[in-house]
Amino acid sequence: MTASREARAQPEIPRIVTSRVDIADAYRLEVYEQTGGYRALRKALGMRPSDVKEEVRAASLLGRGGAGFPAGVKWGFCPEGVWPRYLVVNGDESEPGTYKDRLLMERDPHQLIEGVLITAYATGCAQAFIYVRGEMALAQERVASALNEAYEAGYVGRNILGTDFSCDVVMHWGAGAYIVGEETALIESLEGNRGMPRLKPPFFPAANGLYGRPTIVNNVETLSNVPWIVLHGSESYAALGAAASKGTRMFAVSGHVVRPGVFEVEFGTTTFRDLIMGADFAQGLRPGRSLKAFIPGGASAPWFGPDHLDLPLEKSAVDQAGSMLGSGAVVVMDDTTDVVRACLRIVRFFARESCGKCTPCREGTAWLESILARIVEGHGRVADLDLLLDVADNISPGLTWPPKQTTICPLGPSAVQPVVSALRMFPDEFRRYLGRPAVLMPRRKQGAGFAKVAEVSHAD
Ligand SMILES: Cc1cc2nc3c(=O)[nH]c(=O)nc-3n(C[C@H](O)[C@H](O)[C@H](O)COP(=O)(O)O)c2cc1C
Ligand code: SF4
Repeated sequence: MTASREARAQPEIPRIVTSRVDIADAYRLEVYEQTGGYRALRKALGMRPSDVKEEVRAASLLGRGGAGFPAGVKWGFCPEGVWPRYLVVNGDESEPGTYKDRLLMERDPHQLIEGVLITAYATGCAQAFIYVRGEMALAQERVASALNEAYEAGYVGRNILGTDFSCDVVMHWGAGAYIVGEETALIESLEGNRGMPRLKPPFFPAANGLYGRPTIVNNVETLSNVPWIVLHGSESYAALGAAASKGTRMFAVSGHVVRPGVFEVEFGTTTFRDLIMGADFAQGLRPGRSLKAFIPGGASAPWFGPDHLDLPLEKSAVDQAGSMLGSGAVVVMDDTTDVVRACLRIVRFFARESCGKCTPCREGTAWLESILARIVEGHGRVADLDLLLDVADNISPGLTWPPKQTTICPLGPSAVQPVVSALRMFPDEFRRYLGRPAVLMPRRKQGAGFAKVAEVSHAD
């Protein structure tokens, strides 16, 4: 990926999480303090923990890791009076196209640490873990040295800033597995086990998480919002954005645009057209090219076409249109894209990253990859398109959105999305690979997603 490392925001809105990313050495404590750093922690420690929690709940801060669950609500899930409890920061960020958390950890690690400390104070945690993706060497280095500085300055550790609040923060790094981003797999990995998702229920680790204790897991960007919310108040935060998507949000744009990069935009009011075409953002397609399709929320999301450009970057609007904002990764494909190869590329990722715990995902993703590979290699059979749908339907019955799952975690159904999207939007491109018209008749009872695929198909 040739993404620019710069982050930009709309000039008319405050930068909530990216205010320091362009400041030289902002990762150092001295610069962080000079730019208002750790003021929010001082303020929070002068408040009651329950009031800090209420402030974040009132801000309606939605989780930025993918599912968009409200952080303040999640913090309330820990059972009363059960200690110790843990806070875990998910910095595994491995979804193809997603690279916003890396920017925050590399450029502004103290902002994250301050968010962690305020959250730990609000939720009664005396121990927090920051789990950083294995390949992000610079992020690991910056977070580790920021933690050392913060310990030395009395922001982390015993009796923080002279109060009776104590909290240790430990950095841990992964070993290169995408699945460890799934929160229960991440907890397994932290415990020293192989990173495989746990059976659900429980659906949240709040009651039973790390070492069997109540555990809150939040994304890097989610917690990086917390200092601003505490400092400026939930009302100022909620004044930005749309009714159900407050504040700002980071989006990583990649693919065939003039200026790929990470952008902080007002959540819910900015549109995909603004983000992809706007002069302040990705500046449109490469010269002379037109938009073929884009993925609105990371490799796990169903694809959109040019007709979706005017949708707002708003959770419920995108959900209703049949996809998701997910991890905030917008991948743009222009008219030069071979969608069958693009589909294979994404499915291959999921097949390689399947942890293998459930049969539909372990076997199904491998079969999807094999069938697509033989199509791309010119050995495809007419029945292969039907077979692709059948395998996909075994992983995610009905091929609906949101996906149903036969698996422990959503990775299996994620592999189905590019297949259904590409077949629904570009059936002729698959047929061209096969050299003759294809039969795309589903074999099973049709769900909503299946019906859409069948609509565009023709029996020969
Ligand atoms: C396969 C898979 C990979 C995931 N990867 C990440 C990730 O890299 N970072 C992340 O924050 N959440 C990831 N998630 C979501 C987490 O399970 C969890 O919902 C999130 O960390 C909660 O934080 P939030 O509420 O602040 O969004 C992933 C989920 C799945 C199923
Ligand atoms: S769906 Fe795939 S990645 Fe998730 S637990 Fe099952 S086998 Fe592992």
